[in-house]
Amino acid sequence: MLTEQEIEAFQSQGYLLIRDFLSEAQVDECRQQAMSILQTQPFEEFSIFSTVDQTKTSDTYFLESGDKIRCFFEEGASLTDDRIKSVNKIGHALHDLDPVFSSISYTKELHAMARQVDLVEPVIVQSQVIFKQPRIGGKVMPHQDGTFLCTHPQSCTGFWMALEDATANNGCLMGIPGSHKQGLADYRFVRSLDDESVVFEGTPPSWDVSEMITLEAKKGDLIIMHGAFVHMSHENKSPDSRWAYILHMIDGQHEWDKRNWLQRPQEMPFHKMSDLI
Ligand code: FE2
Repeated sequence: MLTEQEIEAFQSQGYLLIRDFLSEAQVDECRQQAMSILQTQPFEEFSIFSTVDQTKTSDTYFLESGDKIRCFFEEGASLTDDRIKSVNKIGHALHDLDPVFSSISYTKELHAMARQVDLVEPVIVQSQVIFKQPRIGGKVMPHQDGTFLCTHPQSCTGFWMALEDATANNGCLMGIPGSHKQGLADYRFVRSLDDESVVFEGTPPSWDVSEMITLEAKKGDLIIMHGAFVHMSHENKSPDSRWAYILHMIDGQHEWDKRNWLQRPQEMPFHKMSDLI
């Protein structure tokens, strides 16, 4: 549970760092499981995920990954590189399909925290392991998560868990404190009308990146982010990877936008956390 001060800090800053949220054993289990997924997924099926321009990631493999476990290569990787070390991320339904990631996602603790940050009926819609690989981990441009996962009214909230130390050196999160107070920009990442690709619609927002502060985190720490909190991460030029497990939740009381890139088929709907904890 969050303290009153933590809730106030989240409300004023748009993010909250919680130390030692995952135990060493939980982190190790997640890391082993992620590695096991990488070693068993057929590489020929992977596709590229561009952290700079997500519309380049517009193939069917991506569009149909909302209810699956799929791996995506780093844009800068070549086929001659070590392929395990070329993976950008695994997504997007680890929380519903993988027993290890499910066990750290559907917990009373996360559910309680989500309710404390105003999600009345928390629903996990997306899970990802992001690797931010040494030397090639790409820059993630300033953005608001609500641009990608929209509800009416907006309720997208990120739960970012460090599976390794994240520092300014290896591309930790950066964010603009208080930026969530301006609300979500009129800018959306949605399925195209023919349903075959993704496009940005609206006016591209610009933010003053000089206001960004580094959000360094230790292995096991959790950072909760409001869906309108402006954040980014630089490329990882260091020799160290920067693994993280990220959940995105919404308030199940709110309408899920039908044009969101992430859609679940009827046979695999989103679940209320309260039904599974
Ligand atoms: Fe984000």
